[in-house]
Amino acid sequence: MTGSDAMLDSVRALLMASARSDVPPFMVMDVVEAAARLEAAGRRVIHMEIGQPAAGAPMLAIAAARTALASGPIGYTQSLGLPSLRARIARHYAERHGVDVDPGRVVVTTGSSAAFLLAFLAMLEAGDRIAVANPGYPPYSNVLSALGCEAVPIEISAATRFGIAPEDLIAAHRKRPLKAVLMASPANPTGTMMTADALGALIRAAKAEGIAFISDEIYHGLDYAFTAQTALAFSNDAVVINSFSKYFCMTGWRVGWMVVPDVLVRPIERLQQNLAISVPTLSQIAAEAAFEGIAEMEAVKRGYEASRDLLAARLPRAGLNSFPPMDGAFYLYADVSHLCDDSFAFASRMLQETGVAVTPGADFDRVNGRRFIRLCYAGATADVAEAAERIGDWLRRG
Ligand SMILES: Cc1ncc(COP(=O)(O)O)c(C=O)c1O
Repeated sequence: MTGSDAMLDSVRALLMASARSDVPPFMVMDVVEAAARLEAAGRRVIHMEIGQPAAGAPMLAIAAARTALASGPIGYTQSLGLPSLRARIARHYAERHGVDVDPGRVVVTTGSSAAFLLAFLAMLEAGDRIAVANPGYPPYSNVLSALGCEAVPIEISAATRFGIAPEDLIAAHRKRPLKAVLMASPANPTGTMMTADALGALIRAAKAEGIAFISDEIYHGLDYAFTAQTALAFSNDAVVINSFSKYFCMTGWRVGWMVVPDVLVRPIERLQQNLAISVPTLSQIAAEAAFEGIAEMEAVKRGYEASRDLLAARLPRAGLNSFPPMDGAFYLYADVSHLCDDSFAFASRMLQETGVAVTPGADFDRVNGRRFIRLCYAGATADVAEAAERIGDWLRRG
């Protein structure tokens, strides 16, 4: 090998992506691209693939951002977030759940996505094992693996309304110790919720075994079957993660929050100082005002409920009759195994032949996901109705 070959090799080695960055892609993005191609060719596509509200942020949030923009420079904020926003979030727990939260334990984050990263970094060492529900939201496992931690999937089923059962958690812990368990309720992709009793039992079991509890409450507020309970009602040690993305329709503003035990506040503050300095200021100002827009968001929620009722009535008539109860969030997770062997091919065909874009289940469950598709009903109810009709006609045609 010549000197210049050796130099080239060492440059190539420097430019190689790390093994930790080798996380799986989000397959839904392939559906998004295929849908965009159809739209570019002039077809009308009804989007039920991406989990985002069609509605915008509360008017008062937008007005607050406009006022802030007009009133002077937008600088950094404190790393833990604007004190007034942290206090407002704490008040939200008193108002909605009757739970007393010290604003000092509230951390404002860049969406809940950044909250997960901060929580994992603050709580876990490389090599730690964290239980997650399967099926579940894929970035949990992918971010954990990038951090050198191991996501331990726990199978969930109709028998426990798709919540992690305490005995399954304990069994996994006995096999090899777990450091934490992460549960979302309402959940993505199943749209199911844990009852307060089931959630309380899981939190108590985790505590008794010395397993930390992380509660993804991003779909709180979007509960239809019964009221969603916060993990903070059961434990001050739980790490609770939430966001303005879903209930407040603020996905693109990238603002969320977490409530953490006292002992994690300073470590998370140091991490946020170094990783982000602070969360976008304009978004924090808008987020604080969003709490005054609850009436507007409740009207949006009534739209989701109408769509949910419509899908529950019409899809079974079309042969899509196996899905968990649509307790909350805005998802329907349908078993399509009686119609196809591979839900990715099924979703692609559905898109081409009906113009309705849905997500194949493999994104959420690498083992059984090929049997499922996820439909998001956060769009306009008229669009959801049209999608149900198109899917129904398509399935009846065979
Ligand atoms: C269960 C769940 N958690 C977290 C997130 C992340 O959302 P964000 O970063 O916008 O708060 C999502 C987004 O779809 C989600 O479905």
